Amino acid sequence: MSADPLEIYLEERDLARTLREDVRNGLTATPKSLPPKWFYDARGSELFEEITRLPEYYPTRTERAILDRYADEIAVTTGAKTLIELGSGSSEKTRLLLDAFTRNGNLGTFVPLDVSTSALRQSTSDIAAAYPGLRVRGIVGDFTRHLDRLPTGGRRLVAFLGGTIGNLLPAERGEFLRAMHAALETDDWLLLGVDLVKEQERLVPAYDDAAGVTAEFNRNVLAVVNRELGADFDPSAFDHVAIWDPQREWIEMRLRARRAARIRIDELDLEVDFAAGEEMRTEVSAKFRPEGIAAELSDAGFRVRSRWTDEQNLFALLLAQVV
Ligand code: SAH
Ligand code: TRP
Repeated sequence: MSADPLEIYLEERDLARTLREDVRNGLTATPKSLPPKWFYDARGSELFEEITRLPEYYPTRTERAILDRYADEIAVTTGAKTLIELGSGSSEKTRLLLDAFTRNGNLGTFVPLDVSTSALRQSTSDIAAAYPGLRVRGIVGDFTRHLDRLPTGGRRLVAFLGGTIGNLLPAERGEFLRAMHAALETDDWLLLGVDLVKEQERLVPAYDDAAGVTAEFNRNVLAVVNRELGADFDPSAFDHVAIWDPQREWIEMRLRARRAARIRIDELDLEVDFAAGEEMRTEVSAKFRPEGIAAELSDAGFRVRSRWTDEQNLFALLLAQVV
């Protein structure tokens, strides 16, 4: 079966407007920052896929191994009719769930939601081809804004994998979990993948790889702002920085200006100055303790039914039900 046409919750206009707001707010603030969803244009989505295959980037392969082990149990326990995936990207690991539902359940519909139209186009057509009989409804949307519009009908399982919840700031994360709970009904399920706190020697290289792919991914956000808003950033004049913040227990990604620069952003009619060595935050990736994230889920109204990790306790998968 071919996938349904993409459903668009985020029009080009809407994207352009929020990008303008985010860039104006972020670049005129002290310290400067940019929100991470703007990494993922077509090039950014490709670079992220490359990151998932890097030897230093353990989260993807670890989460895949956990999913591989427990996918059948997830399919049987949830009995979902609809699988919704937030920030689905390529949906590669999700195939383990789709396979498990094929063996065990009667899943009818798969709904990947992502801000990246290019990633969704590819994933919906690949998944529809590989799973005949499954209805595939891709949604171009923002999981911080559009949860109230998720499709209803039949028991739902929402998967939010890859540790992407860690890219939200703590206040945004609380808001996200409450909105998620409000959007779901009693007996619906949430499957959440989170990266765990561990020694910095393991964490930092995952966000600062030897081949420089993560650095290129980080700088890509400048290319997005150049193209979409007519800015004149020279991406090669910024260094990639990834540091572990042991108090907040998150990795922080920054871009550091190699030299002083005045950046003109035509579409905002704005000029911003960077001092030599000035750093701009582009992303946080929070790491969790299993009890901590389980408590956050309970506070938001979920009952945590299962918590699974790998032998090295690198990554965790939590299955929670709406009560
Ligand atoms: N789930 C995949 C991809 C993780 S990368 C995996 O585990 O490998 C994060 C994904 O979330 C990207 O595909 C990105 O385009 C998407 N994304 C980031 N911010 C988003 C937002 N606010 N709303 C919807 N999707 C978002
Ligand atoms: N969700 C991924 C993570 O936090 C996203 C990611 C991986 C990322 N590497 C990155 C985001 C580098 C920005 C820069 O692990």
